[in-house]
Amino acid sequence: MGGDGDPSKGPEVLAAIEREFGSFDAWKADFKASALAAKLSGWGVLCIDSLYSGRLLNVLVDEHHYGAIWGGIPLISCDVFEHAYYHKSGPGRAGYIDAFLNNLHWERINERYLAHAR
Ligand SMILES: [Fe+2]
Repeated sequence: MGGDGDPSKGPEVLAAIEREFGSFDAWKADFKASALAAKLSGWGVLCIDSLYSGRLLNVLVDEHHYGAIWGGIPLISCDVFEHAYYHKSGPGRAGYIDAFLNNLHWERINERYLAHAR
């Protein structure tokens, strides 16, 4: 991820997250719950529903495809296949997701948001 996890460095996407989810912490809790709930392997994704609503959505994608939405443009993708964390964290997926969230590069996420938001 290469960032410091500070969402204030992505002001436009942060404002959109707060509009959509009520608060940054509410978004984070929902994103974490989505990524935790992938069966054994999958992805937690924050995406823009570019074809229909234009809204930001947290989407749980099992394996590589179940749950993904047509036209969903990923802004954040958290790999929760076992190989992403098992070597370091064993079965500790929750801790891995926390570390992932704490190292997000919000400047880059903001750039992707601005390139695709309506
Ligand atoms: Fe992977």
